[in-house]
Amino acid sequence: MPIAFSIFVENMENKALYIETYGCQMNVNDSEVVAAIMQPEGYRLTERMEDADVIFVNTCSIRENAEQRIWGRLDVFRLEKRRNPALLVGVLGCMAERLKEELLEKGIVDLVAGPDAYRSLPLLVAQAETGQKGINVLLSREETYADISPVRMDKNGVSAFVSIMRGCNNMCSYCVVPYTRGAERSRNPETILHEVRELFDKGYREVTLLGQNVDSYHWSEGTTSMSFAQLMEQVALVDPLLRVRFATSHPKDMSDEVLHTMAKYPNICKHIHLPVQSGSTRILELMNRKYTREMYLERIAKVREILPDCTVSTDVIAGFCTETEQDHHDTLSLMKEVGFDMGFMFQYSERPNTKAARHFKDDVPEQEKNRRLNEIITLHNELSLQNNEQEIGKVREVLVEGVSKRSAEELFGRTSQNKVVVFPKNNYKVGDYVNVKIERCSSATLMGAPQI
Ligand code: 5AD
Ligand code: SF4
Repeated sequence: MPIAFSIFVENMENKALYIETYGCQMNVNDSEVVAAIMQPEGYRLTERMEDADVIFVNTCSIRENAEQRIWGRLDVFRLEKRRNPALLVGVLGCMAERLKEELLEKGIVDLVAGPDAYRSLPLLVAQAETGQKGINVLLSREETYADISPVRMDKNGVSAFVSIMRGCNNMCSYCVVPYTRGAERSRNPETILHEVRELFDKGYREVTLLGQNVDSYHWSEGTTSMSFAQLMEQVALVDPLLRVRFATSHPKDMSDEVLHTMAKYPNICKHIHLPVQSGSTRILELMNRKYTREMYLERIAKVREILPDCTVSTDVIAGFCTETEQDHHDTLSLMKEVGFDMGFMFQYSERPNTKAARHFKDDVPEQEKNRRLNEIITLHNELSLQNNEQEIGKVREVLVEGVSKRSAEELFGRTSQNKVVVFPKNNYKVGDYVNVKIERCSSATLMGAPQI
């Protein structure tokens, strides 16, 4: 889901850096890395965009509307620049990688840095200060920012994202990521474990291990090697009070070893994000997903067998090239068969230079895509509600993340299965584990009462 938020960093001469982040969790983590790179240069955190001397916008290219939103933000920064002519604006991330010169030509942008070029940001800013536009969009085969301890942007101090790999080799035909984030590479496990231990010592109680395809995590050095399941086990062993999550899994790669490791450790959360994209084998082939409908269902059957209490969430794309009504119905029937607990659903958006853009016609009319998407969303809400209703009467352990948006008298947190639970505050606080008896639900939230 697209997310937008900001951090502010101020240096000793009272220069402030403002970062806005769009796109995936990976981008959130990247902005934290960027903040960590800027900090030794004398920058520290502050909180007002109006005070900014430098604005970084960390961008997303996944769908056209994500990019449009960012062009809109650049117009806002243009106004800000009029007010403060010394203001510098930098575009980072996937859109920087994809649009490079086009962004610099816009006039308002002073520097452009791709996802593997963040170490050069201090230099690019210094260069931009002298009036020279700076650009670095070189992709790397090695960069994992392994040694950098991200400056945490999360508000709760309880759950953090830890990047375990970068890039993607999958080449799904609709997707820009392999082009914007480059080839897949895994991060040294020692640095991952060090970061996780530090987080735990600071009071964090949940880490989410991030990668475009975590199942293909692989580290080897000399005679030793480590798979994703082995890494996850090491992370789980840091402390039984630390919850471990991960995203994203790929149906073609998710191994039984991972499922057995999840079963072995109570602190590995029982939730898997397993994007299906389509329920039609023909469309999956055009998408270059490298699995069939049946293979996906077989993976789900294995999850149910090894982890009976595990929830599954997914991503679905409506209206991919040549998708027929029958293909669409195959998606709906697969959704019913699996009964997803959570999901992210999108209309297909053609991205320039992807395999789909080069070889297939984006031939499902906009209106039709929209109708199919709405059907998918309606069904999804029904299925989530049914699943949530099954929770009523159960007692679930909830890790408290914050105060409920609706009432200061209520807290919210998640179950191991990643379901959000709202319950009365009593004397509980953020970071506590609370056993909550589920009493009511909507399609998105569970509501209950703490068990004394
Ligand atoms: N159009 C629509 N949705 C897309 N996604 C990726 N590329 C596109 C695209 N071109 C979706 C996929 C992916 C999620 C992160 O975004 O469902 O899993
Ligand atoms: Fe993340 Fe993909 Fe958007 Fe890049 S394009 S920010 S990898 S969601």
